[in-house]
Amino acid sequence: MTTAISLSLPDLRTTLALGRYLGETARPGEVITLAGSLGAGKTTLTQAIGQGLQVEESCYITSPTFSLLHEYPGRLPLYHLDLYRLNDETEIEDLGLLEYLYGTGLSVIEWPDRLGNLMPEERLQIELILLSETARRAELTGHGKAWEEKIAGMQNHQEWQRPNKNG
Ligand SMILES: Nc1ncnc2c1ncn2[C@@H]1O[C@H](COP(=O)(O)OP(=O)(O)OP(=O)(O)O)[C@@H](O)[C@H]1O
Ligand SMILES: [Mg+2]
Repeated sequence: MTTAISLSLPDLRTTLALGRYLGETARPGEVITLAGSLGAGKTTLTQAIGQGLQVEESCYITSPTFSLLHEYPGRLPLYHLDLYRLNDETEIEDLGLLEYLYGTGLSVIEWPDRLGNLMPEERLQIELILLSETARRAELTGHGKAWEEKIAGMQNHQEWQRPNKNG
């Protein structure tokens, strides 16, 4: 079962609010997959998720392009995976990445297609679509009951787009 919603992100601020909300409300073991073209905002969204998880500012979140996985300590650990360089799913098992995917942190995965059959069933799938220099659209698909419920509540922007002390 899946539920899908489309969110309008007219400016950077709104994208940051979405990320912070996902970080603040994250539960152990959650998996979020991120797709979107170059410059769509995948890294930016991940940074905001980290902020919501209270990852220290000093642990600045960058793209894990050269290391497949970066782990950041926060309220829950944030595992940022970039699977671009994976050739096939056997490598995932060899590298022990499954322990992270089914661990107690929040996994944010770029290039999730590389997971093949190992794609976790319960996950939030996010696609960021670049509309203009400042505007994006986020297509969210919740797989599994918990995500379906969370997403249904997010259709109302007020649920996650509240003012934040960090602006
Ligand atoms: N509404 C918005 N949402 C997200 N980013 C925005 C928005 N408006 C402007 N931006 C800018 O767009 C850029 C997005 O870059 P980012 O590195 O996050 O993209 P990416 O998807 O990770 O790209 P890549 O595939 O190259 O890694 C940032 O400089 C960000 O400030
Ligand atoms: Mg990036």
